[in-house]
Formats: sequence, structure tokens, C-alpha cells
Amino acid sequence: MPTTITSDQQKKMLSAARSAFKNAHAPYSHFKVGSTILTERGVLYSGCNVENASYGLTICAERNAIFAAVAAEGSSMRIKAVAVATEQDGPCAPCGACRQVIFEFGPDALILFRGQSGTEQMAITKLLPEGFRL
Ligand code: THU
Repeated sequence: MPTTITSDQQKKMLSAARSAFKNAHAPYSHFKVGSTILTERGVLYSGCNVENASYGLTICAERNAIFAAVAAEGSSMRIKAVAVATEQDGPCAPCGACRQVIFEFGPDALILFRGQSGTEQMAITKLLPEGFRL
């Protein structure tokens, strides 16, 4: 069964993601991102991107939100949906690395992000076909 969320949940997630990007540390790219995940328990967790002068150490907003959820709920945490918001206008789908991390904890997760023409809802399996599993 494909995951669905209510329009109220969608609004709350996007609003929380928009609040989250305000705390982003993005002095190099100036591209502030916020992400909020909804877990199967019905709890929201948010994260923002955190960059570093050693650029490769940067962590995306999505992974920070997911890792906060794991820290709070433990390894059995499961993702129902992920929302992404950016300070700048324009499309922003989760990067490839974050898609794989989302898939680990939410193989049926629904992703809300800004596409070419407004907010899109897409299954993680569409964004990441053949995700890696051990
Ligand atoms: N970034 C995210 O936080 N999430 C995405 O989905 C795409 C990229 C961040 C990483 C970096 O801090 C900045 O955006 C520019 O790549």
C-alpha cells in the first residue's frame, strides 16, 4: 500500500521544515535547507543542513532530521514521510545520499519537496529505484 498522509499532516510537516531551515549553517553555499520527518509513531523530527570549512563534512538537512529521530526512538524508528523546504525559491529534491538513508528507515516513505512546478509528493522508491539493502 503506498503511504498517504492527511493534508493537515502535510501542512504541519512543510511548516516545520520551513522553520528548520532558519537554523541552517550554510555560510559556503548560502543554500539553507530544512527537513521534517514523520515517524510511524506519529512524531515529527526536524533538521537543517550543517556545512563545514572542510566542505566534504557537510551534512544535509534530511539526514540530520533522520539521525535525530533515530537518537530519540532507536534503531527501530521507521519513516512515514519526509518534507524538504529551502530558503531560496526553486526545486529541491533530496540528494542521492539522503535518498539511500531515507530508504533504510522508510522503504515505503512519501517525500514532499518542491519540484519544477510546486510541491510534489513522490514515493522514495520512485526517487530511488533499486535502493541498496544488505
Ligand atoms: N542540501 C541539503 O541539505 N539537502 C538536500 O536535499 C540538498 C542539499 C544542502 C547541502 C549543502 O549544505 C547545501 O544544501 C548545498 O548543496
